[in-house]
Amino acid sequence: MIVAPSLLAADFGRLASEIEMLNDSAADWIHCDIMDGVFVPNISFGFPVLKAVAAVSRKPLDVHLMIVHPERYVGQVRDTGAYMMNVHYEASTHIHRTVQEIHDAGMKAGVTLNPSTPVVMLEDIIGDVDMVLLMSVNPGFGGQKFIPGAIDKIRRLKAMIEASGSKALIEVDGGINLETGAMIAAAGADVAVAGSAVFRASDPKAEIAALAAL
Ligand code: DX5
Ligand code: ZN
Repeated sequence: MIVAPSLLAADFGRLASEIEMLNDSAADWIHCDIMDGVFVPNISFGFPVLKAVAAVSRKPLDVHLMIVHPERYVGQVRDTGAYMMNVHYEASTHIHRTVQEIHDAGMKAGVTLNPSTPVVMLEDIIGDVDMVLLMSVNPGFGGQKFIPGAIDKIRRLKAMIEASGSKALIEVDGGINLETGAMIAAAGADVAVAGSAVFRASDPKAEIAALAAL
């Protein structure tokens, strides 16, 4: 499993040392949650912090934008050196154009679905995206409970990807720990995002290694 620890659960007062810990771990990417207080009922951090994270991180940044009209910020995300830019299907009206703009900026493009958005909405764009990020909680907060319906959704998305010949990865975000991580791996997920499970663990590096082994 590709593991992308979510910085949202890190200690922001010691952000550099938290990132150093991830640099020394089996983490593949660092998942960065940007919230605007409009698309989701919470505000996290923005581009100045993302730049500071990028300066310390030796892992590719997987940026998850929980903001309205994310297409306005393709250039700013690119300027941080991000590897993957994930935009919500629900937040970008012309998502096909947004995906092309992310690619033109030299980044991988991910499209994210809220728990209530069916995977069929991606049928006509699945061949153009590098990743689909399925939310297994309603976005906005860390530490929420995994929504079990995500499992069948992963299976349906996997079938769509295989039928289309797309190479899109499936990433799952929200309430992932070793138990739910094993469930999403069995259903066909490629990437696990984990915030609380990693940063609240007594040994975060061991937790990351255990998730990677799923
Ligand atoms: C939620 C964020 C998640 C969050 C996951 O809106 O997108 O990435 O950090 O946190 P946990 O793993 O604690 O559910
Ligand atoms: Zn996220």
